[in-house]
Amino acid sequence: MSLILVGDFMKKLVIGNWKMQKLSSEIHPYFHPFMNKSFHNVDLALAVPYLFLQSCQEAHNGTPFKIGAQDVSAHDNGAYTGEISAAQLASLKISFSLVGHSERRKNFHESSEIVAAKAKRLQNAGILPIVCVGETIEEKPHFQDVLKSQLEPVLSLDPKNLVIAYEPVWAIGTGMSASIDDIKRVHGFIKYFLKEHSYDFSSVRVLYGGSVSEKNASSLLQCDHVDGLLIGGASLDPVGFDKLIATLG
Ligand code: 13P
Repeated sequence: MSLILVGDFMKKLVIGNWKMQKLSSEIHPYFHPFMNKSFHNVDLALAVPYLFLQSCQEAHNGTPFKIGAQDVSAHDNGAYTGEISAAQLASLKISFSLVGHSERRKNFHESSEIVAAKAKRLQNAGILPIVCVGETIEEKPHFQDVLKSQLEPVLSLDPKNLVIAYEPVWAIGTGMSASIDDIKRVHGFIKYFLKEHSYDFSSVRVLYGGSVSEKNASSLLQCDHVDGLLIGGASLDPVGFDKLIATLG
C-alpha cells in the first residue's frame, strides 16, 4: 500500500520533479527550509534521480516530503544493465514513481504500452505509479485522440493505486502554462474517459504539470478536476519552492 494514498484523499498532491538536476552536495541544504514544517492542505513529494534516492530518504527526515523515483524498468529482474527494477525501489521503501514522462516518451521512444507495463511493475511492488500523459503543440487540436491512446493501456491497472499527471508537452519548461480553460477541458476529458471505462476509476487523481510557478500555482490547483501539481523548474530552488507551497493555503 502506497504511503501517499493512506493520506487524506481530499488533500491535493504536489510533486517536485528534479529531473536530471542537482549534485550530491546539494541534497542536505535542499531540505533545510522544510525542516519541522507541515503543510495541512497538500501532500508533498519529490521525484529525484535514482542515485540520490537513498540520501534523500535520509536527508528528508523531519520534512513533509515523500521521496520517489522518476522512472522504473519495464522488466522484472535479470540482465538489464543500467536498469532499476520496481522490487529494488520497494527495497528502499520508495512510495511512488513517475512513469511515461514526455521526456522519456520522446527521448527514449517509450510507447504507451511500455509505460503501462512499468506502472504495472510498480503496482505489483506496492508502489504508486504517477503516469504522465500529454500532447505536443501539433497534436493539441486533436488532444482527445492522443490522450485516449496514452490512457487506454492504463485501464488494465489497479485504479486504487494510480495517479495520472497531465503535462502538455508545449507547456513544459516554456514558461507558458496551459490556460485554466484548457486545463478544465482536458482534465474533464481525462476524468470522463476514466470513469466511462469503470466507476472504480473515478477516484483516480489527475495532476497538472507544465510551467507551474509561484504566480500561477494557486489558481491552477483550484481549477476544476485538478487534484495536484507536478512541478519541474520551480521545485529546484528550495526557498522558491517553499514560497510556492505557501501560496497553496
Ligand atoms: P516545468 O515545471 O519546468 O515546466 O516542468 C514540468 C515537468 O516536466 C514536471 O514533470
